[in-house]
Amino acid sequence: GVLGAVGAGAVGGLVVGAGGGIGAYAATRPAAPTPLTHLGSDAVAFHGTHQAGISTPMQAVGHLVAFDLAPGAGRAEAIALLRRWTACAAPMTEGRPAPGHDTDVALDEGPSALTVTFGFGRSFFDRTGLVKQRPVQLDPLPAFSSDHLDPARSDGDLWIQVGSDDALVAFHALRALQKEAGSTARVRWLMSGFNRSPGATAHPMTMRNLMGQVDGTGNPKPSEPRFGEEIFVPAKPHGTLASPAWMAGGSYAVVRRIRMLLDDWESMPVGKQEKVIGRRKSDGAPLTGGTEDTAMALTKKGPDGELVIPADAHARIAQPSANGGAAMLRRSYSYNDGLRGDGKPDAGLLFVAWQADPLKGFVPVQRKLDRGDALSAFIRHEASGLFAVPAGAAKGEYVGQRLME
Ligand code: HEM
Repeated sequence: GVLGAVGAGAVGGLVVGAGGGIGAYAATRPAAPTPLTHLGSDAVAFHGTHQAGISTPMQAVGHLVAFDLAPGAGRAEAIALLRRWTACAAPMTEGRPAPGHDTDVALDEGPSALTVTFGFGRSFFDRTGLVKQRPVQLDPLPAFSSDHLDPARSDGDLWIQVGSDDALVAFHALRALQKEAGSTARVRWLMSGFNRSPGATAHPMTMRNLMGQVDGTGNPKPSEPRFGEEIFVPAKPHGTLASPAWMAGGSYAVVRRIRMLLDDWESMPVGKQEKVIGRRKSDGAPLTGGTEDTAMALTKKGPDGELVIPADAHARIAQPSANGGAAMLRRSYSYNDGLRGDGKPDAGLLFVAWQADPLKGFVPVQRKLDRGDALSAFIRHEASGLFAVPAGAAKGEYVGQRLME
């Protein structure tokens, strides 16, 4: 394709110019600096109505990190920390160094679509004397029968999601934020993940996960009229179980570390894998036909009289119309943490679901999946977090200011 043509042209020029081998490679390097590529120059505004990193297109690298406030740190220390974190994150998202002593890790790079997204866990409100401000949405998630949760890698007072299309930019931001935590907060858990790099496919398309499935098809799209109300808390929350006013423009993140039993999964023929989801592996189209965007024909039966999309297919059970309209934006990262003691891959999905209210998004859907979707046999939920992610900070504001003051 296009890449092949470019490669061939470059090689052709080099043979004449430098004679091949390592010299030929060196000769492709420009003598003078050239403008940043598309990837490096991509910038996502830090300030705005909503925090960046929610409806932002998925980036290639992500770090999820939770902090606990240190003993003795309360509301005043938390305010100072949120001010420092805001002052640290905002310039980095423009490709500028972190204030103070920068580590130089991203010195040569553009913003590379860096986003830094901050959230509050349930325990934060106890620690800071703000229990009256705590959204009922942060009530602990119900226990699910398939949970194998590790408390040490779950929850936390504060949560940050760092995303970037470049691994060094993401690490740079993560370290800078960790350093700013200083003696106020210490890391509770850290999980790192990845996705397809921009430009790795010839045309933009939905991500794949480590099971090889096209993952993200059913997501609400920013262009759809209901997207705003499904994903973000309304400007004037109302009703008995509404979010508090400080959460206007915010969203709730449900984070689940979901290990995939890849040895089991990969030993199944593709036909069986497809029945687990109800969609084709090659292109994500429903098993009832069409393209990725075609609606599933849920009542269609095959020649054998069986439903083509099985009754326990993951996509059938999870879809909003089967769950009273429950919708969420799944914006996950894959992870690979090497091998476990039993020799099996410690790999899977850092599942991140965004919604205006987890009781109307993740909870009913996971309840349903927990009662027996076909995918459950191939996954293990190993850690869990639920965070209130406030609206974006306006210029001059720090993140979370409307809660803290
Ligand atoms: C759809 C994979 C966990 C909710 C899908 C699809 C795949 C998939 C391949 C079909 C394509 C798409 O619409 O994105 C996985 C994997 C999981 C996982 C591999 C775990 C490792 C979850 C969990 C939830 C969830 C925990 C929520 C509780 C959904 C929803 C859809 C979906 C809402 C869209 C259904 C529709 O509207 O058609 N998932 N999923 N998934 N999944 Fe999952």
